[in-house]
Amino acid sequence: MDKFVIEGPTPLQGTIPISGSKNAALPLMAAAILGDSPTTITNIPKLRDIYTFNNVIRVTGCRVEFNEDEGILTIDPKNLNHYEAPYELVRKMRASFYMLGALLGKYGEAKVSLPGGCAWGPRPVDLHLDGMRAMGANIELEEGYVIANAPKELEGGTFTLEPSSVGATVNLVLAAVLRAKEFTIKNAAKEPDVVLLCEKLAEMGADIEGIGTRTLTIRKVDSLQGISARNASDRIETGTFMIAAAMHPQSNITLTNVDVDDLGHFPETFRKIGAEMNINGDSIHIKAPDHITPTSIKTKVYPGFPTDLQAQWATMMTQANGESKVTDTIYDDRFSYVPELVRLGADIDVKKNTAHISGKTKLKGASVMSTDLRASVSLVLAGMVAEGETDVLRIYHLDRGYEDLEEKLTNVGANITRAEQKE
Ligand code: EPZ
Repeated sequence: MDKFVIEGPTPLQGTIPISGSKNAALPLMAAAILGDSPTTITNIPKLRDIYTFNNVIRVTGCRVEFNEDEGILTIDPKNLNHYEAPYELVRKMRASFYMLGALLGKYGEAKVSLPGGCAWGPRPVDLHLDGMRAMGANIELEEGYVIANAPKELEGGTFTLEPSSVGATVNLVLAAVLRAKEFTIKNAAKEPDVVLLCEKLAEMGADIEGIGTRTLTIRKVDSLQGISARNASDRIETGTFMIAAAMHPQSNITLTNVDVDDLGHFPETFRKIGAEMNINGDSIHIKAPDHITPTSIKTKVYPGFPTDLQAQWATMMTQANGESKVTDTIYDDRFSYVPELVRLGADIDVKKNTAHISGKTKLKGASVMSTDLRASVSLVLAGMVAEGETDVLRIYHLDRGYEDLEEKLTNVGANITRAEQKE
């Protein structure tokens, strides 16, 4: 098991290329098995979650080829003959649950493990299952697996998501495009990952109305064809590096290969902290402010402030001059990073789903523990401005969602090395 050893404080100066998005790639990969011919997807990052999903798809009999150097993935569903996603793989990555919609949609049957627990509390899939029942599918739970069956054509109907859910929207769209006479999803998610999925399914031949809105109406078609598609760049990685750049007064970086339109309201909120930000085509230049302005945020569904950036934001607010609050309205209990930041000297108090942050505090290096993907990257951000050595333990969480993190940060001046973590 590895850890990061970080010496701080260090300013960040130079250019960071943004990688392809994990959360946009996974739905596209599931959609590929709906085609009657191969699909090729470019801009795919070398991440553990991508490798895991490649194996989940291979279990069904699909041929999966991943040219890691080029970031090109080809999925050929011709020999798909096994409609199962086993617990051993699904427990490693929740989004493997997208196989339920894809297999049910294409073959009318699926046996998919329920995803296990998560570091920050319950993440139910009731909306996925209730939505498929509303579509007309037969859904049973047996020994930790979902057993789904559906005749060639489902009547369809209307299903309202409450709350709006990225995963449930993806799964219901995948299940409906080849199977539902007419199915309407109300309060659908419109995160860029969902919009890209619907756009690419339409290119494959699907009939989807209302793409990009909160009401999606899907009418089945008889078949879909494989396509070549470009995966989106990672908007959460982009936000993470924008925040990293603002945390040290001498930092000055340019992010390239950015899909600026996918950032929603984030740039607007980011401007409030006082950083200089120039957007030019697919690149963003950030010059840190001398003093960070305390800025409270409340996470929301897209285009609001993403929950996947709240830990990084709270970390930055420890370096702001004054009080601020970070409230998560998507997940009540996504603050497992706070005790670790307090170990570095931060002054944060969590009440219900709000972190109350008092800054500016001088952070001092120490050993800290990763708990999940976004929590662990916030500890790396803190380590880069803390005095002395910070050891971020269990970084396998990071390898799930950040490609070449230590290389990218080292190239802009950070002092970060990967080392074996002795237990
Ligand atoms: C996606 O998770 C992302 N994962 C998450 O990013 C992200 O935090 C989340 O959307 C919210 O933006 C991927 O794209 C692979 P949801 P998902 O269903 O689909 C409740 C990361 O760091 N809900 O939109 O699982 C749920 O509990 C990951 O990359 C139900 O109640 O999130 C939550 O409160 C972490 N019942 C809310 O909806 C359901 O059946 C939103 O969850 C489904 C969801």
